[in-house]
Amino acid sequence: MQDQTTITPSSARSIQIVPAQVPLGAEVRCGDVPALDETAFREVYRAILDHLVILIRGQTLTDPELIAFGRHFGQLDFAPLARTGKEKARPHPEIIVVSNVLDNGVPIGVLRDAEVVWHSDNSYREKPLSYSALYALEVPATGGDTGFANMYLALETLPADLRHRVEGRTLKHDMTYNSAGDLRAGFTPVADVRDAPGPSHPIIRTHPETGYHALYLGRRPNAYINGLSVAESEEILDALWRHATQPRFTWHHQWRAGDIVIWDNRCVMHHREPFDAGARRIMHRVQCAGDVPRYDPAAKRGSHARAALGSR
Ligand code: OGA
Ligand code: MN
Repeated sequence: MQDQTTITPSSARSIQIVPAQVPLGAEVRCGDVPALDETAFREVYRAILDHLVILIRGQTLTDPELIAFGRHFGQLDFAPLARTGKEKARPHPEIIVVSNVLDNGVPIGVLRDAEVVWHSDNSYREKPLSYSALYALEVPATGGDTGFANMYLALETLPADLRHRVEGRTLKHDMTYNSAGDLRAGFTPVADVRDAPGPSHPIIRTHPETGYHALYLGRRPNAYINGLSVAESEEILDALWRHATQPRFTWHHQWRAGDIVIWDNRCVMHHREPFDAGARRIMHRVQCAGDVPRYDPAAKRGSHARAALGSR
């Protein structure tokens, strides 16, 4: 009897990219990610460069599988400063647990149930992250949604006078607090933003892979524009943040267990809503090491959104 089974080579696996009807974000429908081959990962990678943040639903991953997934997007980073020093030790140094769950009174992860302010991951390091991926294991019924904002678009639409005031300037990125407002282990509160510990990065950043410029803001608390008075720096930063976090630049994701979301920190900021302290939320995160941020005024001047997304 003839064997009826046909084996489809994995490179023929069909991947569907479904863009969100907003200025960034796409769902990638690709089946189980551990089964994807290099060709498929190239398409997924392209989708992130075009859409800035992607969602893949319905996954069941072990930690080693999540680590293997993350390695397709770059060298994994061990997040030396992610900890507040109060949470449990990590069994896999590549995985950071983002959770409010306590185990015998000890947090199993970081960021609690708090609002997580708009930020770009690890901007307070000399070499901030390129990609971050969150994999949802347990999520609350409501709350804890994560929003993403398109920083190419924020720059493209920046009023000319504001752009002129920040062109060529650098921003100091404070490393004292995490994005949930917790003091990091080994740091003391900041009295004057000019003395905050942390590296400086260009406010307009050239994306090393796409060549387009994006606004690069990090996080608002304790930020300082080098060379200005504190008052002028505060005024410009408030205007930049008001502009950059407008709902018209954002996409919000309501999580389901089994979701993976990956975003590009070089052109996206993200924010998490708080959630009920009695609910459980457990995410496992991997992250890729990035470059020193640079600004090349001669790089591409056009619109990333129009070039990558055409009709959107
Ligand atoms: C992060 C983060 C948001 C969230 O892991 O970098 O900001 O939704 N998390 O938990
Ligand atoms: Mn983050």
